[in-house]
Amino acid sequence: MNLPLNISGLSLPLLPVSPQFINLCGEPATGQASGPLKELTDGLTATTASINPKFFYDELGSRLFEAITGLQEYYPTRTEAGIFDASYAQIGATLAETGIRHPCLIDLGAGNCAKASALMQHLTPRQYVPVDISVEFLRASATQVQNTFPALDIVGLGMDFSKGLALPREVQSQERVFFYPGSSLGNFHPAQALEFLQHIADPAQGKARGLLLGIDLVKDSATLEAAYDDALGVTAAFNKNMLLNVNSLINSDFDVRQWRHVALFNTERSRIEMHLQACCNLTVRWPDHERRFTPGERIHTESSYKYTLQGMTDLLRQAGFNHVEHWTDAQGWFGVFWAAV
Ligand code: AVI
Repeated sequence: MNLPLNISGLSLPLLPVSPQFINLCGEPATGQASGPLKELTDGLTATTASINPKFFYDELGSRLFEAITGLQEYYPTRTEAGIFDASYAQIGATLAETGIRHPCLIDLGAGNCAKASALMQHLTPRQYVPVDISVEFLRASATQVQNTFPALDIVGLGMDFSKGLALPREVQSQERVFFYPGSSLGNFHPAQALEFLQHIADPAQGKARGLLLGIDLVKDSATLEAAYDDALGVTAAFNKNMLLNVNSLINSDFDVRQWRHVALFNTERSRIEMHLQACCNLTVRWPDHERRFTPGERIHTESSYKYTLQGMTDLLRQAGFNHVEHWTDAQGWFGVFWAAV
């Protein structure tokens, strides 16, 4: 809401404040093969076809994900929020004990920025840096945060941080606290998760003082599978929408009606797997390529690894964090970690 500003009897409307915004999406990181075409073609033509889960998040995908977080079956979001609600004061005190008072809060995969917004009054950051691959969605969210906290220095960053975390010079290099909630680290394969954490913990790279991380924990298969295959079919729509996003990115001709959503818990690998399964014989075409699928053949679209508290503590220590603590809910379904460098 824009409250009018009253100067010497003159009532002037306050203009919405726009945060600084830097869009690095589309700029390939040094040494990487460029663009989505190669990455998608490689995945779609592999023996077991796959699409990187980052392609879920076009604007509609981001909205569908937001809807997932409100579903009864999708417990991670509300469970994590419950842990934060119960532990804000303790988390704030823990950071203060480490000597961190007004951090530069770097929110990885910020989305609608809701989680960081709830943290603001407890962490009182000097700068807030929401980072997300879904550029337009992030721009709108960052603007909303700026309107709620007009005095806060905000630098929105449109960036695919799965390719590297080289932050522009507009991001303050002191007192950096990385915030990675929502169990998004679980979408990396464990070796990539380790590499990513090492990068944050490496003082020469991320310049971090610490990482505040939310991660989903191992539990019974039925609860896990329901969370990724809800009765309303929102997760199915989220999964299939990826094909529409791919169509618009590489001019392919996926027909979403020919695909079925599959979600299963792979106990051995401790991960939920999402797939899209072909319902019939079909051929997908895009410039200079095609791929045939037989009925039942799948495209692997996402893995969501589930950790134990000990497993995540070990991973964080292995990555180079010196001090690790955690908070959890009564059922032990979700873990919030503070890992200091
Ligand atoms: C973003 N990420 C942590 C979600 C998850 O639970 O792995 C993505 C998601 N996929 C299906 N539902 C939610």
